[in-house]
Amino acid sequence: MSNLFVINNPLVKRDVTILRDKETNTSTFRAALNRVSYAIAIEIANSFELDEIEVQTPLEKTVGYKIKKQIVLVPVLRAGLSMVDAFLKMIPDANVGHIGLQRDEITLKPIDYYYKAPKKLEESLTIVLDPMLATGGSAVASFNSLKQKGANNCILACLIAAPEGIEKMNSVHPDVPIYTASLDRQLNEFGYILPGLGDAGDRTFGTL
Ligand code: PRP
Ligand code: URA
Repeated sequence: MSNLFVINNPLVKRDVTILRDKETNTSTFRAALNRVSYAIAIEIANSFELDEIEVQTPLEKTVGYKIKKQIVLVPVLRAGLSMVDAFLKMIPDANVGHIGLQRDEITLKPIDYYYKAPKKLEESLTIVLDPMLATGGSAVASFNSLKQKGANNCILACLIAAPEGIEKMNSVHPDVPIYTASLDRQLNEFGYILPGLGDAGDRTFGTL
């Protein structure tokens, strides 16, 4: 699992605990998810390449930096929307695409219902945002679509990942690094992550 980055930060562990707790209400859940998303964004940014630029301070010229690649954030609807705000605060000039996928409750296969992303992805760094990596079906389908449109430099940002989803991603998209706040134990027979946090979309949007 060389491609897997599990964030090891006490504040993130505290917030993942809040997210797991079934007594956490919607507004507290959103706030914790927002904070964890900041931490994931900062961790991912460690891998960004920089270009040196010249900057004039009030006193003299010095070396400054800019992010080399255009960043494209792609939340997977619905739950991925909950990570966008934090990422955009840290990367305000990112472009944002959207992929709509709904996991079928019986087959667990993702049903594709929306795609809109910048046309030229070849030169960009494309970061897919989805809190849950369970069977990996949704993540694999997302990168299938994005790579078909030219994405060749991709990252997956998630909150909780199951070993099954990581294995699937590594077999189909081994070039995509996966950043997660927690590597959980396994899936249950309904495709939910254990111990997990339940249904991320429902808990974020209060549709339980
Ligand atoms: C959830 C989650 C992922 C997907 C993960 O979305 O946000 O997109 O399931 O499962 P997988 O790895 O087995 O594909 P869901 O389909 O429930 O839609 P929602 O975000 O609209 O609730
Ligand atoms: N989607 C979720 O929201 N939660 C899970 O545990 C698995 C898939």
